[in-house]
Amino acid sequence: MTDIPPLSTDTKDGLHHQDVEHIFGFDGPLSAALPGYRPRQAQTEMAKAISDAIAGQKTLLAEAGTGTGKTYAYLVPALLWGGKVIVSTGTKNLQDQLFQRDIPTIKKILKAPVSVALLKGRSNYLCHYHLERTQQNGRLTSREDVGYLRDISRFIKTTMTGDKSELSRVPETASVWSLVTSTKDTCMGTECQYYQDCFVMKARKEAQQADVVVVNHHLFFADVALKDTGVAELLPSANTVIFDEAHQLPETATLFFGDTVSTSQVLELCRDVHAEGLSHARDGAEWSKLVAPVEKAARDLRLAFPQDIVRLSIDQIAASSPFFEALDTLKDSMSELIAVLEKQAERAETLEQCRARAIMLQDQIDDWNAEPKDAAKAGDYVLWVEAFSVSLQLHRTPLSIAPIFNKQREGVPRAWIFTSATMAVKNDFTHYVSQMGLWNEPAFTWPSPFNYQEQGYLYVPDGMPDPNSRDYADAVINAALPVITAAKGRTFLLCTTLKAVRFSAERLKQEFEQRGLNFPLFVQGDAGRTELLERFRNSGNGVLIGSQSFWEGVDVRGEALSLVIIDKLPFSPPDDPVLAARITAMEKKGMNGFVHHQLPEAIINLKQGAGRLIRDETDRGVLMICDPRLISKPYGKRIWQSLPGFARTRLESDVLAFFERLSTESSAAPPAKV
Ligand SMILES: Nc1ncnc2c1ncn2[C@@H]1O[C@H](COP(=O)(O)OP(=O)(O)OP(=O)(O)O)[C@@H](O)[C@H]1O
Ligand code: SF4
Ligand SMILES: [Mg+2]
Repeated sequence: MTDIPPLSTDTKDGLHHQDVEHIFGFDGPLSAALPGYRPRQAQTEMAKAISDAIAGQKTLLAEAGTGTGKTYAYLVPALLWGGKVIVSTGTKNLQDQLFQRDIPTIKKILKAPVSVALLKGRSNYLCHYHLERTQQNGRLTSREDVGYLRDISRFIKTTMTGDKSELSRVPETASVWSLVTSTKDTCMGTECQYYQDCFVMKARKEAQQADVVVVNHHLFFADVALKDTGVAELLPSANTVIFDEAHQLPETATLFFGDTVSTSQVLELCRDVHAEGLSHARDGAEWSKLVAPVEKAARDLRLAFPQDIVRLSIDQIAASSPFFEALDTLKDSMSELIAVLEKQAERAETLEQCRARAIMLQDQIDDWNAEPKDAAKAGDYVLWVEAFSVSLQLHRTPLSIAPIFNKQREGVPRAWIFTSATMAVKNDFTHYVSQMGLWNEPAFTWPSPFNYQEQGYLYVPDGMPDPNSRDYADAVINAALPVITAAKGRTFLLCTTLKAVRFSAERLKQEFEQRGLNFPLFVQGDAGRTELLERFRNSGNGVLIGSQSFWEGVDVRGEALSLVIIDKLPFSPPDDPVLAARITAMEKKGMNGFVHHQLPEAIINLKQGAGRLIRDETDRGVLMICDPRLISKPYGKRIWQSLPGFARTRLESDVLAFFERLSTESSAAPPAKV
């Protein structure tokens, strides 16, 4: 399961390989059209393997290092030979990047006559119906939201897509969005007076008709599970499905193949029942009195946990906890609400919709901790609760997604391409394959086109304290400061927790001020991700501090990024109930949870973070991992052996000298070997 696959000629017409070589070659169209383009063997070979899988309607796992150019490697065969293609990627940002930048580039160069559509989740599109209702009933509480609503009302008149990402003036996190978009529960569907103009329907229709549809993993799995925003209807006609950033699939699929119900859904329902009841069936019930006990029970469920934020498996909740009583009360009061809705539903379409929603919610709440019908299935799900500031979610998460995902892949034969820089650990795909149920499918790793040994250092500072000690966060900054200074900013500081992000930002700000260093600081949360990256690139000497969302998919080429610092090895928090249950299940099978699950996960995360540094044959830089466990623990070796083959050092002086050389020589000498 390693190395470059043999040059097979078993492609149906045998011609694709030659075409691929030409397209990616020295004299090919990519080289002619793209400045800075150089043929990369890994990229060409990967494109050939993908062409074969497409032609043979096979499954393929294609791994190639960060920055190799995997995007073009799959877009070329997909646009030429893929038939109807679904490309799914990790985030909405990467979706926009594919749709706006990469696909048009390749389409134009190849003169490929394909139509392309972008499909996002329902909550990304403005809803005419809900916007109108919000304009009319003025439920807005803050002045800020009133201003945003004015912007949105103006925007809806001019936008073609209704995609909220086009209206950057209203932040993605603004609460007003939930009042002007629909959910599967609240959409009126064909009954809606705006159905003809509806943006969700329009996006779905375009996706139906397009040759290439760009989606994201959340949408793909939410949809396959809930059959909502259109992927489920797209899938049957697709000839090729490509998952980029495929290492994220186990987590995303886990999220959606399970079931989650939130007390905020219950409260929203109560709010709507109250409003619709009063406007359409005032004499039908005492609406305030009817919803009050349901609302109280939903709130009591949250109040059963005094902590701010908590994640607990059902086994960790004491039998005497008020939680169980509140859950029973909620179930009972929901039944009373439904009994009234059954009688009043025929008086208005909106009341009928509330009735259907209430029944669905009740089913979900009942099912959450119901005894499984089949006793053998009892251990297949993890039941857990997650408390947020004002809501409580009940989750039912499958222990393994493999059987469910395999079922999805059954049926019409089609090509399934999984690509990422990090599916394998040292060429071993076992961990990924067993999570996804992709046993016996061909899996290849192509070597990186970069010469890491010459292009940079892996620096693990000496004398760092234990990562769990109190002074660790300070020690990271102390060790980082001289290196950031030598690198002249141009740094990503990637932290494993948001707390560490905030702490580091605060301390670096003070230190920069005291030392008269004018490196601009960009901190996750200060602005949207795309905007922060844009500002970082433009600054030329910035320091960006971020957590998980900056570890993946970010492409900053050249000198703007010369130093990537990672504070700690990214092990998942051991208190995660799903992780704990998975580890227990593995241990029952005689496997070691740490070795077979947590360690490979951490390695995959770390490789993603490290992969931000070198994006080009001429990029140079230092990867600094502060965590001493990389050296002191027996598993440390396995970790650094999985990372790109940088020259290694523990001496700050080596790193300072490296940056010194970088700044004095325009084409700096390679680092001395250690
Ligand atoms: N053959 C090539 N020569 C020069 N530049 C290339 C070539 N192919 C792709 N690129 C550029 O290299 C950069 C990295 O490409 P891409 O984003 O596809 O990498 P990737 O393999 O997907 O990496 P990651 O795993 O980090 O997402 C992009 O800016 C892309 O435009
Ligand atoms: S069909 Fe649904 S999403 Fe579209 S405008 Fe009507 S309620 Fe909104
Ligand atoms: Mg990529």
